[in-house]
Amino acid sequence: MPTAPNPPRLPALLAAACLCAAAAMQAAGVPARIPFGSADGRPVDLYVLTNANGIVAKIMTYGATVTELDTPDRNGRPDDIVLGFDTLDGYLQKEPYFGAIVGRVGNRIAKGRFTLDGKAYQLATNDGPNHLHGGNKGFDKVVWDARIVPGGGGQAVEFTYLSRDGEEGYPGNCTVKATYRLSDDNELSIGYVVTTDRDTPVNVTNHSYFNLGGPEMGGILEHVLTINADRFTPVDSTLIPTGELKSVAGTPMDFRKPTRVGENLGRVGGDPIGYDHNYVLNGGGGALAPVATVYDPASGRVMEITSTEPGVQLYSGNFLDGTLTGKKGVAYRRYWGLVLETQHFPDSVNQPNFPSYVLKAGQTYTSETVYRFSDR
Ligand code: GLA
Repeated sequence: MPTAPNPPRLPALLAAACLCAAAAMQAAGVPARIPFGSADGRPVDLYVLTNANGIVAKIMTYGATVTELDTPDRNGRPDDIVLGFDTLDGYLQKEPYFGAIVGRVGNRIAKGRFTLDGKAYQLATNDGPNHLHGGNKGFDKVVWDARIVPGGGGQAVEFTYLSRDGEEGYPGNCTVKATYRLSDDNELSIGYVVTTDRDTPVNVTNHSYFNLGGPEMGGILEHVLTINADRFTPVDSTLIPTGELKSVAGTPMDFRKPTRVGENLGRVGGDPIGYDHNYVLNGGGGALAPVATVYDPASGRVMEITSTEPGVQLYSGNFLDGTLTGKKGVAYRRYWGLVLETQHFPDSVNQPNFPSYVLKAGQTYTSETVYRFSDR
């Protein structure tokens, strides 16, 4: 006797209805929100931003982290061009800031010390003798609040985090907002707005590791890089700037003309060898100005970065050693990702000749960086 098909069960019907609603929201230009586990006893969500040309950016509330960025190659084939993990667990282990927003002060503060308004502060020394990327539990390791921002062109999500007075040793209750926006012009922008009730240093940036060929295809040494900087800030053996602004001319730091990342890397020094240096951008900071262009000859992908920041840290993934396995089962080896951290110069809080990143109580810090994707 033929059996009647089972009637669909209620949970399945509900799931189908949810999917339809998510699809309808996306069609209407609203990012999708997907549960992505929990951290610190708080739920973590993943937001999916899409544009009309097939670019997809996924950002989760843990660390306001870019977990995936799909862009088309010259044949229209999309691939994910950032390093990271499939699940939240990957990010909860010790990992090198894949895709996260770093702060309160991104980059290094010498010996974790500074004096502000006559008071001495000692922060965590979590990178040899120095403080790095906000300390033991920086902005990359906390759950941010998020809300979809309607209108304004493209899809946008605003992430907010309140860093309390004394957190990681920094003064002042500091409210940080980072708004990611994906436009139909193929631009992913991040706008930062920070306020505080006590004077504090602030230097926030995004720490995505880009690999325009797709990390499953190889490393980044064949990427062709241009940086709009005539000078860089030389560093000591612990990567703290000496204070000098040095011309890139005649040094392996020179990316004024399009140059393969691997071309002069062997002459940069460092242990392990590679780029981990801040450039003094010709734009000077303030208004949006060109920072860098990255071109991958194999895939044809191009990324152009503009920013209001005066500097950019070029990091060639020197500390990756193949022990972390990321998305698609790819082991992230040395030089597998290229990080371009738009920022104020490292250790600025102790270097009077560098542009200041001290945010005064009651004032507002703003910063914007735009990543534009194309192909050739
Ligand atoms: C930054 C630093 C590097 C390294 C990475 C994370 O880019 O400048 O030295 O610490 O973060 O591994």
